[in-house]
Amino acid sequence: MESWLRTLVLVACLLPALVDGRTRHYKFNVVSKNMTRLCSTKPIVTVNGKFPGPTLYVREGDNVIVKVVNHVKYNVTVHWHGVRQLRTGWYDGPAYITQCPIQPGQNFVYKFTITGQRGTLFWHAHILWLRVTIHGAIVILPKLHVPYPFPTPDKEVVVVLGEWWKSDTELVINQAMSAGLPPNVSDAHTINGHPGPMSACASPQDGFKLQVESGKTYMLRIINAALNDELFFKVAGHNLTVVEVDAVYTKPFTTDTVLITPGQTTNVLLYADKSAGRYLVTVSPFMDSPIPVDNLTATATVHYTNTLSTTALTTITPPPQNATPVASNFIDSLRSLNSKEFPANVPLKIDHSLLFTIGVGVNPCPTCVNGSRVLADMNNVTFVMPTTAILQAHYYNISGVFTDDFPANPEIVFNYTGSGPNNMQTMNGTRVYRLPYNSTVQLVLQGTGIIAPESHPIHLHGYNFFAVGRGLGNFDPKTSPSKFNLVDPVERNTIGVPAAGWTAIRFRADNPGVWFMHCHLEVHTTWGLKMAFLVENGKGPNESLIPPPKDLPAC
Ligand code: C2O
Repeated sequence: MESWLRTLVLVACLLPALVDGRTRHYKFNVVSKNMTRLCSTKPIVTVNGKFPGPTLYVREGDNVIVKVVNHVKYNVTVHWHGVRQLRTGWYDGPAYITQCPIQPGQNFVYKFTITGQRGTLFWHAHILWLRVTIHGAIVILPKLHVPYPFPTPDKEVVVVLGEWWKSDTELVINQAMSAGLPPNVSDAHTINGHPGPMSACASPQDGFKLQVESGKTYMLRIINAALNDELFFKVAGHNLTVVEVDAVYTKPFTTDTVLITPGQTTNVLLYADKSAGRYLVTVSPFMDSPIPVDNLTATATVHYTNTLSTTALTTITPPPQNATPVASNFIDSLRSLNSKEFPANVPLKIDHSLLFTIGVGVNPCPTCVNGSRVLADMNNVTFVMPTTAILQAHYYNISGVFTDDFPANPEIVFNYTGSGPNNMQTMNGTRVYRLPYNSTVQLVLQGTGIIAPESHPIHLHGYNFFAVGRGLGNFDPKTSPSKFNLVDPVERNTIGVPAAGWTAIRFRADNPGVWFMHCHLEVHTTWGLKMAFLVENGKGPNESLIPPPKDLPAC
């Protein structure tokens, strides 16, 4: 076929699905599937038999309807990570927070509208550790005929980063929890499901290959869907221009290394400015604390057309695992676009000024290996999952499920980033923090040094927030705010709080419901580094949570 004809046919086949811009239907069959990686085959839990799962393609303003049918032995829920779910909190997905899980043999239809967002997000299971393999991209195109605020790339490519475990991850975490010890780390990182050509027992042609044409621009929609590892992303011989994070445009900036935490998404432009060749892509962990991490590098290739597959690969060295300056440099370069069309509406007057410590603790556990258990907390509260969803309990006024006394500040003040208090014990509770509709919040997330300081990617459901400040050591209410950026701070839904440091975020509570906030390192979520905001209804139906859907699963 003539190439112009082929292009025409291709365009004709691709476009109808996205032209009319109304309601997009998807069906997710949750099924077990045998996959071969790292020389062995094992069954994994997937959506539609794929790892990563299917990409949702939508436009800003679309309604999305996804029917999830559970064919596996586990309870399942799906979270649309970063989708704001304005007034539709019932469809947000975290198990026991907004819904009871979909039990084996059951189904649930998620229905929501994409409002005021465009870029890349992702979906993932939000129960147990199932998100390790139940995840996939959400591509939100701008409204029809609305251009990007940067030159239109010639092609767009989804790049999902993940982790591969040889063992069954449910067994890994269950055994760790009953022993009271940290779980193992993964056996490989993955790029679009593959550890890549450099991994043991893979052939040099293995793994994800990005085919490029000299002179063209490619937009990579990078997603960190890994369970526990913050990751560096690099391409040999090429710089990357960051244009969007967490479905919000940024001021473009050019870098040779992208840092992306679990829960974050980053769109970058890659300009294919070489004439030919094969270039290595590396994905490697960032961990600047003495904590074990999967230190294997996943690889992929950028392959110029008219280049033989036997051509020598141009390689690159990934940053060292503890490259704090590389990480900080990347984070400090991020700014909101803050243009006329896309303003940064940073709340300037604050109604609720909060400080939450985040970190780990140690509680007695007679049946555990050391007689104690490692766990995690916010403001010393280890969140206990209820057995009824909090949103239902709130809506129907069911008492005894949660309390709304989550502390606004630490109840015991200590040198948070120092050696810690003598007593590292935490208290248990299902406590939420109540916010009136439309109130403004400043939240300082203060890392602690208890046992070891560590970077925590904190994710807030139902909102984007502005990351107005960041520092090492303890937040100082007198001096730290003077350095806040209230003009063009990056707007996102997941933020890395530096090891032995703090991050300040601001948001306006304009979305009623119950909104989970937790560390997106799955091990820390399991250990209790989580809480929820309960945002009250405002006036009238437009400021209120919609009534619950009839098919909402029962607990
Ligand atoms: Cu992507 Cu509550 O998580």
